[in-house]
Amino acid sequence: MASTRVAVVGATGYTGEELLRLLLHHPAVQLTYLAASAKWERPTPVSDVFPRFVTHLGCSDLLIEPLDPARLLKASDAVFLALPHGEAMKLAPALVEAGKRVVDLSGDFRLRAPSLYPQWYHLDHAAPAWLTDTRVAYGLSEWCREAIMKAKLIANPGCYATSILLAVLPLFHAGLVEDNAFIVDAKSGLSGAGRKAETSLLFSEMSQNLRAYKVNQHQHMPEVLQGIEQFTRRQGRMTFVPQVIPVHRGMLSMIYLRTRATLEDVMAAYQRAYPAERTPFVRVQAGRLPELCDVVETNRCDIGIMHDGSGQLIIASALDNLTKGASGQAVQNLNLMLGYPETAGLV
Ligand SMILES: NC(=O)c1ccc[n+]([C@@H]2O[C@H](COP(=O)([O-])OP(=O)(O)OC[C@H]3O[C@@H](n4cnc5c(N)ncnc54)[C@H](OP(=O)(O)O)[C@@H]3O)[C@@H](O)[C@H]2O)c1
Repeated sequence: MASTRVAVVGATGYTGEELLRLLLHHPAVQLTYLAASAKWERPTPVSDVFPRFVTHLGCSDLLIEPLDPARLLKASDAVFLALPHGEAMKLAPALVEAGKRVVDLSGDFRLRAPSLYPQWYHLDHAAPAWLTDTRVAYGLSEWCREAIMKAKLIANPGCYATSILLAVLPLFHAGLVEDNAFIVDAKSGLSGAGRKAETSLLFSEMSQNLRAYKVNQHQHMPEVLQGIEQFTRRQGRMTFVPQVIPVHRGMLSMIYLRTRATLEDVMAAYQRAYPAERTPFVRVQAGRLPELCDVVETNRCDIGIMHDGSGQLIIASALDNLTKGASGQAVQNLNLMLGYPETAGLV
């Protein structure tokens, strides 16, 4: 495989760190530029920031530097943007125009209607025409491979959105969801909030604790409903209760919906959507519910189905918010864009 020069912008954050962990082992990628904000006044060896990477081949030579767009353009063929919301929309258009392949991990290009950004992200979009540009694709890998292969800019999905969409899309697609309605009770590790200092995320606030937040107000809600519409032409109705739990990484979404279908019909819908030979990162099982420890540090989403025969379906969808929920799926999407095996660099 030919090697691609890859940059990570936001390399000091949680998803940036996870990108480094994965890309250092990628057979066809050479990390050539790592950047963070201006608070990094001078280039710093990556092994000073993340000592665990020191033994990896070549890593001790890499520097993390304050972002310089001119150096970014010169040093890379493909760019991962792992930045807070509102930053990628300022950078990505120029990178695409300059011929780079870009994977954006933020929400900046996920929603197609600019009018949704003030409500859900509390900002006005800086490049609204790009939300419907044909060079942009939503990056739920298992559902839009062809579009990802042709795209120049990938809007990598949110972590909750990935765990929920992978679980409900096969059922919506097959028309098995009564009233198109479902309830999601989802729990995320604290790394989902990013590597920032915030009182509500302190160890003393969160250890031995569990907290619901942004109930029906979370920014992944319009993303999930848009995904259901995009992939199944149905209008979903969702109740969403996200929660944080005192673990570092991992996400479990419990999904409740009613169906008239039998368990056999339900499982057939999943088997059609996720044939094992084409979707190595999604595993669906009846009668066994996945746990966080099944998926942490993997790019897998494990889905478990319980059907009690009364029409109530209980679905558990587990993934690692930093891997399949962010950086792993981002690498999967870069692989698709560049024509590499979809699984390259991933487990
Ligand atoms: N965490 C998750 O589980 C997860 C899952 C899916 C998607 N996402 C999305 O992925 C993106 C990154 O998330 P994260 O959790 O990795 O965030 P994070 O831990 O807060 O890291 C943010 C990174 O961006 C850098 N940065 C901030 N402002 C910058 C600027 N103006 N110029 C250059 N670099 C800048 C920070 O560098 P400094 O060290 O200089 O501050 C840091 O490296 C977010 O949009 C998030 O919503 C996160």
